[in-house]
Amino acid sequence: MSNCNCCCSQDNKYFDKLEAILKNYAGNEADLIPILQDIQAAYGYLPKDVLNKMCEKTGMYPTEVMGVATFYSQFRLVPTGEHVIKVCFGTACHVNGSEKVADALADELKVKIGETTEDGKFTLETVACLGCCSLAPVMMIDEETHGRLTPDSARNIIRDYYATGRA
Ligand code: FES
Repeated sequence: MSNCNCCCSQDNKYFDKLEAILKNYAGNEADLIPILQDIQAAYGYLPKDVLNKMCEKTGMYPTEVMGVATFYSQFRLVPTGEHVIKVCFGTACHVNGSEKVADALADELKVKIGETTEDGKFTLETVACLGCCSLAPVMMIDEETHGRLTPDSARNIIRDYYATGRA
């Protein structure tokens, strides 16, 4: 019996999710986007070591994989914060001031769009229509929708997360 105390068993566990994903695919190039989507769903983003392991297992080329991962905006190469804020920049929200809402959030959180706060609590993103235009301007924080926002009400929502220990 092995008394190995190195990190290999932990590594195996870390890659278990990848192994489970790859079982669902033949592993050829046509599967690349769905595999990347599944990896992102499982890990929250596309960790480089997981992508390397995937290339090892499938024979895909790292340059090709990175090309696809960086081309599509749906893929993240860095981990997000604990909470992801999605400010809608669809037409209805845009004409109702979502840009000012996003600016206020960026100022409140001291980040730019696409960045994560220094404390790792929030990632600020913009998206196209969230499907609830009658509430414009709208943002989602994780699965929660916040509508009819103003720059001040958006700031207050963030402050409330911190004040109530949700962040
Ligand atoms: S445009 Fe923002 S929810 Fe539709």
